[in-house]
Amino acid sequence: MDFLTIFSGIPWTTIGVGSLVLILVVGIWILLLNRVNPTLASMDEPDAVAIAKGRCGDSMKISLKFNKGRVADATYWTDGCKFSSACGAAATRLALGKSPEEVADISYMSVKDAVGGLPEEDMHCATLAADTLQESLRIYCLGINKKAE
Ligand code: FES
Repeated sequence: MDFLTIFSGIPWTTIGVGSLVLILVVGIWILLLNRVNPTLASMDEPDAVAIAKGRCGDSMKISLKFNKGRVADATYWTDGCKFSSACGAAATRLALGKSPEEVADISYMSVKDAVGGLPEEDMHCATLAADTLQESLRIYCLGINKKAE
């Protein structure tokens, strides 16, 4: 059996169509992920940025921008697990439109409830998100306006 005979038996059309479908599905998935989770981003000129490290060693960064005494924009980043990403998204969504006093009421339980509950062993992911949000709020309230980058 020569080289060309080996490759002539491979269904190249099927592989090509399959690859195109796979690329299309992954592209749509990435687009949907960004639409569903718009707060997973960095922010230009935030009013406050905080980075915290959880007891698991993972980190989270939350940036806040205020307008007329309310959170006008909130974004997060994390190098943690999928639960930490869900909790970061929930914490920033919860903060949007809120006054500093209202943001101060966002606890790890609020974050846990916003994501629909968490396994007990992953509760620290909600704590990391809430702690990072509260640290960002503290920095804003102190007028530190620290940039983490
Ligand atoms: Fe570290 Fe979730 S395991 S934040």
